[in-house]
Amino acid sequence: MKILAIETSCDETAVAVLECQGTTESATFTILGNALFSQAALHAPYGGVYPTLAKREHQKNLPLLFDRALAEAGNPRLDLVAVTQGPGLEPALWQGIEFAKAKATELDVPVVGVDHMEGHVVSGLVYPTSDVGYGLDSPAFPVLALLISGGHTELVLMKEWFAYTLVGRTKDDAVGEAFDKVARLIGLEYPGGPKVEAHAAASKSRGSPHNIVFPRPLSHEPTCDFSFSGLKTAVLYKLRSMGELSLDDREHIAEAFQDAARDVLVMKTRRALTETGAKTLVVGGGVSASREIRRALTALIEEEFPSVVLAYPPGTLHLDNAIMIGMAAYLRESAHQSARAEISARGSQSITDL
Ligand code: KG4
Ligand code: ZN
Repeated sequence: MKILAIETSCDETAVAVLECQGTTESATFTILGNALFSQAALHAPYGGVYPTLAKREHQKNLPLLFDRALAEAGNPRLDLVAVTQGPGLEPALWQGIEFAKAKATELDVPVVGVDHMEGHVVSGLVYPTSDVGYGLDSPAFPVLALLISGGHTELVLMKEWFAYTLVGRTKDDAVGEAFDKVARLIGLEYPGGPKVEAHAAASKSRGSPHNIVFPRPLSHEPTCDFSFSGLKTAVLYKLRSMGELSLDDREHIAEAFQDAARDVLVMKTRRALTETGAKTLVVGGGVSASREIRRALTALIEEEFPSVVLAYPPGTLHLDNAIMIGMAAYLRESAHQSARAEISARGSQSITDL
């Protein structure tokens, strides 16, 4: 089956063409064409994603990226169009949905809606088979998914394919949002995560004194829920008390913040693994790019849960992309579980309501 996949939930406009085979037991995906434009630099001056600008950029870029992805794929006959229907910014989602519907009509093929977070889960479960190929074998269930991005921070249990229950979630800010806000406080541009990580690494390699310690919110509460807004506020108050900041100070703050965020993610994941007896831990979303968080989760699994399989998205699949949307759509198609009803943008759709 050849699938045209479209992703416009946030600030990446992405179009991919995939050839998919197999079932949820064993599937293969060949990426025939892939075109992606990140608007991050355009949003940087606003300190976050500016929805009207995102919408306009998606509208402008979708036809260009579609032409590019199709040409790269050699203009094959397509069988299905897949598009992200949520969660995300509704004006941005609508651009992708309208475009997908128009293409499906033109090509006379069905169009299916895909959950963006399910895309992140699937991208964490595949492995590369070549430069343009991915494979997927059924994971050991239950699978615990730690979904960490700019809009989400949640622990979700997948007992079997497409059956999700919520284990824990943030009560306020997402962890990526906290990285972005702290970045802004110390003068770094959106998206702040990678820059905070670089600053923290500089502080660590210099051996900064660990005399700045931020709180680990909700760490002693017997739930798997998170909270990051208090952590951001603690950083703000600390900065106010410090006055003029040197580069060393900013790097030191970045390290102390990242340590606190990392520790909370590890503590809640430990609790969730213990409570659920999960056999696989899959990590997805933009924050999974953090090497420090990955190092800490790897240590957690090796030292405390050696029989659990830790799965991470390969290559650049942790970023928002259309490949993961196409893969998730295919897996649902192959299991006759697609969302083919009238597709509309669902900005706050939750993976546990699918
Ligand atoms: O999944 P994603 O690309 O978009 C959303 O769906 O939100 O995630 C983007 C988020 C941003 O908040 C960004 O700062 C964060 O992922 N991020 C990181 C790192 N790389 C990206 N956060 C911490 N450390 C990183 N290395
Ligand atoms: Zn995402």
